[in-house]
Amino acid sequence: MNQINKDYQRLPGSYLFAEVKRRQAAYEAANPDKDVIRLGVGDVTLPLAPAVIEALHKAVDEQANADTFKGYAPDHGYDFLREAIQKNEFAARGADISVDEIVISDGAKSDSSNIQEIFGPDIKIAVGDPVYPVYVDSNIMAGRGGDYNEETGKWSDLVYLSATAENDFKPSLPTEHVDLVYLCYPNNPTGTTLNTADLQEWVDWANANDAILIFDSAYESFITEDDVPHSIFELPGARTCAIEIRSFSKRAGFTGLRLGATIIPKEVEIDGVSLLDMWKRRISTKFNGAPYIVQRAGEATYTEEGKAQLEENIAYYRRNATLIREGLEEAGFEVFGGINAPYVWMKTPNGMDSWDFFDYLLETVQIVGTPGVGFGPSGAGYFRLTAFNTYEKTAEAIERIKGLKAQNA
Ligand code: MLT
Repeated sequence: MNQINKDYQRLPGSYLFAEVKRRQAAYEAANPDKDVIRLGVGDVTLPLAPAVIEALHKAVDEQANADTFKGYAPDHGYDFLREAIQKNEFAARGADISVDEIVISDGAKSDSSNIQEIFGPDIKIAVGDPVYPVYVDSNIMAGRGGDYNEETGKWSDLVYLSATAENDFKPSLPTEHVDLVYLCYPNNPTGTTLNTADLQEWVDWANANDAILIFDSAYESFITEDDVPHSIFELPGARTCAIEIRSFSKRAGFTGLRLGATIIPKEVEIDGVSLLDMWKRRISTKFNGAPYIVQRAGEATYTEEGKAQLEENIAYYRRNATLIREGLEEAGFEVFGGINAPYVWMKTPNGMDSWDFFDYLLETVQIVGTPGVGFGPSGAGYFRLTAFNTYEKTAEAIERIKGLKAQNA
C-alpha cells in the first residue's frame, strides 16, 4: 500500500513566512486601497551591485559561445569561487580553512535544512529559542521531533535553549547530552549576537562533549562591533567541532539568484568518519551544482569594486536598522538587536500576543512584521521587523508606528 512520509504531516499548518505572506495577501485583497509596508520576511530590496550585474552579463555571453559554454558545474563548486571565499572570508580573518573544505550550494536555506541528513536518526538536537524555523522543521520532517505540545509550543525530542531579554539573548549551554546544536549569529530573529568569548564557550563545550555545532553566519556582513566573530573558524578549537553555513543572500542581495556555501574542516568526524566526505557525497548525489553564471556573480562580490559596492548596500540597510531601533525606542517600545544585524526585535506592548500584535499593526497602520512566537516559544510577546525595505518605506513605517503609540498614550 502506498504511504506518505507521516513526519511531514506532523508539521504545523504552514511555514512561518508562508503564513505571514498569506495573512498579508488576504488583507491586501480585502483592502486594495491601503498602502501596506512590508517589514516581515527578510527579503532584500536593493538591486544587485553593478559589479555583479557585469559578471552576470559576461557569464551569460560565455554561455552563447561553444568555446566558453559551460554545462554541469563541478559538484562542489568552481575553484574560482571557492578560492575567493577562502581568501576573503577565512584567510583574511586568520581562519585556517582550505579551498577543498568549502562546498558551494544554492543557498544557506538548502544547506541548513539538508545538513541534518548526514546525521543518524536518533541524535539529540538543540536549538536556540527563538530560532530560524528551518532548523526545526527540517528535523521534524526527518522524524527527529517526537511529539508536539500545543501548550508549550515545543517538540518533545528537541532541546530548546531559551534566549530572551532576561539572559541578554545568550542561551545557556545545554545541561543534558546533546549531539548537534544549531547556532545562528548574528541571530535571526533577535538581531542580537555573541562576542568572541561567548562563542568560545560554545566551541570548548562542543569539543568537551562530543557535540557538533552548525554555525549559520548568514548575517555576518552586518557586524559593526569589533569583538564579534564573522566566522566560527576564527576561534581556536572550531576545526574539530564546527560546520559553518554561509549565505550570499543578505551580504550581496542574492535572495533571488541563490548562492551559499558550507564549510566543514577535515577534522570534523564522528566514529572516524569525515563529515566533509559525507556532505560531498550527498551533494554529488543530490545536486548538480550552483549555476555557472551565479557562481561568477558570487566571485564578483569579492573584487575590490564589488566589495565596495556591497559595503554601500549594507550601509543602506544598517541605516534602516538604526532608524527602526531609534524610532521604536523613542516611541517607548523595548527594543533589541539591529546593531550587528538587519533585524530589530521588540517587545509587544502590554504583553500582547505576537500574532494579535501582527494583526493589530496590519489592520491599524498597514505594517507587516513577523510574530516572535512563530520562531519558538521564547519568542512569545516579541515581534521582529526587518531593515531590508527601502529607506523611505522604513521611515514611513516608523512614523506610522510612532503615531499609533501617540494616539494610544
Ligand atoms: C527571514 O525573514 O528570516 C529570512 O527571509 C529567512 C531566510 O533567509 O530564509
